[in-house]
Amino acid sequence: MIETAQAFGVDIGGSGIKAAPVDLTKGDFAEPRLKILTPEVSTPQAVAKIVKQQLDHFEVPESAPVGIAFPAPIKPGQKLDFMANLDQSWIGVDVTEVFSEACPVVVVNDADAAGLAEVQFGAAKGQDGLVIATTLGTGIGTALIYNGVLIPNTELGHIELEGGKGDAERYASSAVRERKELSYKKWAKRLTKYYGLMEKYFNPDLFTVGGGVSRQSEKFLPYVDIKTPIVPAKLRNQ
Ligand code: BGC
Repeated sequence: MIETAQAFGVDIGGSGIKAAPVDLTKGDFAEPRLKILTPEVSTPQAVAKIVKQQLDHFEVPESAPVGIAFPAPIKPGQKLDFMANLDQSWIGVDVTEVFSEACPVVVVNDADAAGLAEVQFGAAKGQDGLVIATTLGTGIGTALIYNGVLIPNTELGHIELEGGKGDAERYASSAVRERKELSYKKWAKRLTKYYGLMEKYFNPDLFTVGGGVSRQSEKFLPYVDIKTPIVPAKLRNQ
């Protein structure tokens, strides 16, 4: 059962849905997280059912603040108009409304949540100027944070790479590395193109790299050849 000083956090991803009570002072899990695989057909109903299961598992009281990190741009009160990695039936849906059936929730973009956490508790703490926090997973997520203030819902994982052949996340995400069985060094070449382009457009002061693969950062980050400092997210995939 979660205590009142805590909140409950859920991270909805293309491969897993992870949830845990969170200690807001420490910026850490208050109990080990529970991960359930994302259903193959990841409709709003199917995903909401899993979130409900997680709330029940941790016996979250109705009064507890619940925050949900979601893999798409989120504008409160507006219907979703873009979805890259979950079922397309999310389009036209008010995401907050879907999850609010069980209890009141706040939904934000997943990379924005991860980026704010890095600035508050992690690798970008105390960093002035522009931080671009990125997450490499099924997709590529980005958060732009300028002097501690988030510019929400940037979708820079979808900038065009490779001469118009498409979207950066289809070329450089962690899922692409796995699918194509690229070595970490080969993948780092793709990441150099990606981060190099972002560097050119935005001139940030720091990049952070999160997502599950950040656990292996020593295998690829030293080979990402750009001028801007680029560091693993301290909170990794949490
Ligand atoms: C989505 C972003 C999300 C990122 C990471 C992208 O495909 O468009 O909204 O932040 O994946 O999940």
